[in-house]
Amino acid sequence: MESLSQENRKFNPNPQFVKQAKIAGMDAYKELYQKSIEKPLEFWSDVANELHWFKPWDKVLDESNAPFYQWYTNAKTNISYNCLDRQVEAGKGDKVAFFWEGEPGDKKAFTYKELLDEVCRFSNALKSLGVKKGDRIALYLPMIPELIFAVLACARIGAVHSVIFAGFSSESIRDRVEDCQARMVITADGGYRRGKILELKKIVDEGVSNCSSISEVLVIKRGGEVAIDCPMTEGRDFYYDVISEDCSSVCPPEEMDSEDLLFLLYTSGTTGKPKGIMHTTAGYQVFSYITSKYVFDLNDEDVYWCTADVGWITGHTYIVYGILQNGATQVIYEGAPNHPEPDRFWNIIEDYKVTTFYTAPTAIRAFMKWGDHWLEGKDLSSLRLLGTVGEPINPEAWMWYHEKIGASKCPIVDTWWQTETGGHLLTPIPGAIPTKPGCATVPFFGIEPLVLNEEGETVDVGILAIKHPWPGMLRGIYGDQQRYIDTYWSKWNGRHYFPGDGARVDEDGYYWILGRVDDVVNVSGHRIGTAELESIFVEHESIAEAAVIGIKHDIKGQGLLAFATVIQGKSADEALEKDLIQLVDKRIGKFARPEKIIFSSDLPKTRSGKIMRRLLRSIADGDDLGNITTLADPSVVDEIQKQFN
Ligand code: PRX
Repeated sequence: MESLSQENRKFNPNPQFVKQAKIAGMDAYKELYQKSIEKPLEFWSDVANELHWFKPWDKVLDESNAPFYQWYTNAKTNISYNCLDRQVEAGKGDKVAFFWEGEPGDKKAFTYKELLDEVCRFSNALKSLGVKKGDRIALYLPMIPELIFAVLACARIGAVHSVIFAGFSSESIRDRVEDCQARMVITADGGYRRGKILELKKIVDEGVSNCSSISEVLVIKRGGEVAIDCPMTEGRDFYYDVISEDCSSVCPPEEMDSEDLLFLLYTSGTTGKPKGIMHTTAGYQVFSYITSKYVFDLNDEDVYWCTADVGWITGHTYIVYGILQNGATQVIYEGAPNHPEPDRFWNIIEDYKVTTFYTAPTAIRAFMKWGDHWLEGKDLSSLRLLGTVGEPINPEAWMWYHEKIGASKCPIVDTWWQTETGGHLLTPIPGAIPTKPGCATVPFFGIEPLVLNEEGETVDVGILAIKHPWPGMLRGIYGDQQRYIDTYWSKWNGRHYFPGDGARVDEDGYYWILGRVDDVVNVSGHRIGTAELESIFVEHESIAEAAVIGIKHDIKGQGLLAFATVIQGKSADEALEKDLIQLVDKRIGKFARPEKIIFSSDLPKTRSGKIMRRLLRSIADGDDLGNITTLADPSVVDEIQKQFN
C-alpha cells in the first residue's frame, strides 16, 4: 500500500501507438466518455448496432425491477453467431481465429470458417445426446481447442455452460454440478501441466458418481504421444470423437432472448459456499465486444495472446467471447509458463509474433524471480501492447514489465474488473490515457466509479462503488437472488453496486485499487473466501476453531495463513498439518493451500466471542497491536506471537 501511495511516475502513450489507435488522445477519450455518461442509452444502442441481431430491442435498459436490471429487452441474438458467422460473412473465413500450442509442443490452427464448422459439429453432437436450450452443462477441460468449441457450441444451441477450472477437486465439481443441476459434464481423458498428465476424467468420475442430475459425461481425447487411461461408464459416458463422427458441420444458431442465461461461473464470496454468477446473453455480448475492441485496440494485423485459463472469467471474456467478436487472431497455450524452461512465454511471443500480451501480475513476479537471463536473445519486438489483470500490480513489477517486456514503448493496460462485472470497468485506454505504475487509472465508457465511506459519502480513500448499471453486469446468483441483493446492493441501500474492493482517487482523478475490503483473499489472482477454508478446517475431527487471513506474498500477491485450535486431547503436530492440507486439496484444490497453519490453545476473541481477524493480521505483519486488554484472554496473543519469532 505504501509503495502505491508514494508512486508518482507517469507515462504518456507512445506517439507511434496513438497515431493508429482507435481512441487517439485524451480529448477523444473524454468526448466519448462524456457521451457515454450523459446519453448512456444512445451510447449503448450505438455500440450494440455494431453487432448482429435477429430482432432489435424494445428498450436499451429496463430499470423497473432494480437491482434486476435488464438490457436490450426482447431482442433476439446469438453470441456464437457474432463470434463466428458474422466474421465469415464479413470475409474473414480464411483468417486464423486461433493458433493453439499444447504444452508438449503439439500445434494446431483454426480459421474462422474452420472454427465455425467445429462449433457446429460440436453443437450437433450435443443435440444428438439430447441437450436442449436451458440445460446446464459443466465443462472440466484443459486448455485445448475443444474447450473453445464446447463453450461456443453451448452458446449456439442455448445451453448454459458452467466452466470449472481444471485445478478444482472432484468435490468442487460435485458442489457446482449439484448447485446448478447440470445434466452433462464435458471433460477430457487428460491434459498437460508442467510435463505431467492430469487425469481429468478420473477426477470427474469421483465428483459426479452420486450426482443424480448428470445423465451424460462427454469425453474428449486430448491426443498426443501417450494414451491416457480412461475408465468409461456404460450408458453414461461417450467419447466425443465417436459421437461427432457423423455430425454435420452446419447448425443454425438458436435465437436467444437478450436476458436468456448464457453462462454460470462460480466464484468465492464471504461465506463458505461459492456463488454461481449469472451472465445473460445480450448485455454480456455487447460489453465483452466493446471492452475488447477499445482496451486492446484490436486491429486486423494483431496477434493477441491472453495467458488466462478459460476456467476463469478472463478466459470467458478475453479469450472466447470478446476477442472472437472482434474477428481477431489469437494464440492459445495449454500449459505452464516455465515448461520446459522459464522462457516458454517469450518463445511463444517470438514464434507467433504476438502483438498484444495480457497476463497476470503473479506471472510477471515469477518471471522477475526466475531472472532476466531467460530473456536474452529473445525477439519481442512484435509486441505493441501489454496488459495485466486479476490483482493489484506492484510498481516494481509494472516497471519490469514495461522495460524488459515492452521495451519501454508498449502501453500497459492495468485492467480492474471481476467475474461479476463481465468485463473491464477501470482501465487505461492505451492510445489515450497516460499510465502510472500500479494504477488501473480511469473508468471505461459508461462506467461511473465513486469512492465512498460506509455512510455513502464521497472520500479520497475508501470503498469503491459503481454508480449506474452497465450491460455486462451479473444478473444474479443462481438459485439465491436474495444473496445477490445482500452482497452487491445492500451497502448503500441499493443506490450503487458494491464490488468489495478498497480504492483511492488521486489528484488526476485516477483510481488506485487497494485490495479487497471483505473476507476474500486474492491468491495469484484466484479468489478464495477465507470462510470457505475455515469451514473445511473445522470439518476435521481434531479442530475446534479456525481463522484464515490473507498475508502479503512476494510472488502470489497474497497468500493464506491459517490459525487453528485443537480439540482437547488431540495433538497439534506435523501429521495434523498434513491432514488439513490434504483436506484443502480434496475439498477445493491445491491452489487454495495455506502457506502455513499455526496451532494455538485459543484464538484472540472479543468478550462477546468474536474472533479478531484484524489482530491476527497485525500479528502476522509484525505491527503494533494497540490495546489488547479488551480481549477475553489476552495471553493467547503471546502464545501466537511466539510462533512468528
Ligand atoms: O480485488 C479485485 C481483483 O480481483 C477481484 C476479482 O476477482 P475475479 O472475480 O476472480 O476476477 C479476476 C479477473 C477479472 C477484484 O475484486 N482485481 C482484478 N483485477 C485487478 C484487481 N485488483 C487490482 N487491480 C486489478 N487490475
